[in-house]
Amino acid sequence: MDPGSSGPPNVYDDVVSAIGNTPLIRLNRLTAELQTSSVWVKLERCNPGGSIKDRIGLQMVLDAEAKGLLKPGGVIVEATSGNTGIGLAIVAAQRGYRCIFTIPDKMSDEKISLLRAIGAEVHVCPTAVEKENPLSYYEVAARLAREIPGAWYPDQYSHQANPLAHLLSTGPEIWEQTEGRLTHFVATMGTGGTITGTARALRNLAESNSRNPPMIVGVDAVGSILKQWFEEGTVGVAHTYQVEGFGEDFIPTTTDFSLIDEIHQVDDGTCFRWARALAKREGMFCGGSCGGAIKVALDIAERSDAAGEAAMIVAILPDAGNPYLSKFYDDEWLLENGWDPKDWE
Ligand SMILES: Cc1ncc(COP(=O)(O)O)c(C=O)c1O
Repeated sequence: MDPGSSGPPNVYDDVVSAIGNTPLIRLNRLTAELQTSSVWVKLERCNPGGSIKDRIGLQMVLDAEAKGLLKPGGVIVEATSGNTGIGLAIVAAQRGYRCIFTIPDKMSDEKISLLRAIGAEVHVCPTAVEKENPLSYYEVAARLAREIPGAWYPDQYSHQANPLAHLLSTGPEIWEQTEGRLTHFVATMGTGGTITGTARALRNLAESNSRNPPMIVGVDAVGSILKQWFEEGTVGVAHTYQVEGFGEDFIPTTTDFSLIDEIHQVDDGTCFRWARALAKREGMFCGGSCGGAIKVALDIAERSDAAGEAAMIVAILPDAGNPYLSKFYDDEWLLENGWDPKDWE
C-alpha cells in the first residue's frame, strides 16, 4: 500500500511504515487528587521496536541513504544505550544492512539480548570511564567505524536527523492530537533530540496558528551535567546513576537549549517509584525515564502556572518496561540496591 493511500487504517507494507503515530493517553488515577487533571502521555512503547528511538533510527538511515553514506550491504556502527540500536536494527533488518553496536555495561541484559535477537553484533563496554577513554562505548564505536570498510557511524549525539525526526513526526503528532491546546510539554533529555525537535515543531505550529507555544520542560538525571549547563553555563562533574536512557556526561550538539524553558532533575529512586506507579495505577508498563517524566509532569500539575481549565500537560514516555523486569521491576533487585518498594505503596 502506498503511504497516504486511502486503504484500511493500521495496515502497512513494511515495519518502518508503522513507526510513529503513537497514542496520546490521559492519566486518570495518578492525577485524581491534583489541581490539574489534564495530564497526558505519549506512549512511545507502541513503536515497532518498543521505543521513541525507532523514529530517529529511520530518519538517520534515510539521510545516510540519500547522501550515499550507506550503500546496499553496508554496515551500521553506533554507540547506543539500547533503544537507538533497536530502532536502527529494525530498519537495518528491513533493508538488509549489518549492525554493530557498542553499549555501556550498566544496560540491562534484556536490551543486549534483544539487539542480538534482531541480528546486531553487540560490544559491551565499561560505563565508568570518560567519554574520551579508548574503552568507552563512544570511542570503541568510532574506532570500529574507522576500521570496518563500508561502515557508517550515525552518532545520534551529533546527527541532526535525530531532532529532525521529532520535528517531522513527534511534534506534529502531538499538535494534532491535542488540537494545539497543550500548555506544557515534558521530555527526558539524553541526546536532546526529542525535546529539541518536538519543541521546535510545537513552536512553529503555535506561531503559524497564532497561539501561545507550550512551556518546554526538560527532565535530567541526578548525576548528569545537563541541568547545570542549562542554568549556569558551566560543565559540572558527572557521576554514574542507574536509570537508563537520559542524562549525559557531555553536552550533545543535538540539543538546542534555547528552546527549553526549564530543566528538572530526578534521581534513580524517583524514576523507579513513578514508573512502577504508572504500571500499577494506570496500566502503562514503561521504563525508568518514563517514571522521571511522569513525576515532573505531576509536579507541574500542582503549580499555579498549570492551574485552570485550559492547562494541558503532555509528557513523553520513551520506552517499555520489559527491558527492566530484572531491574527496578524486581523487588529483590530494588532491595539489593537500597530501595524498599513497600515504602512506595
Ligand atoms: C529510555 C529513554 N528515555 C529517554 C531518552 C532521551 O531521549 P533523547 O535522546 O531524544 O533526548 C532515551 C534516549 O536514548 C531513552 O532511550
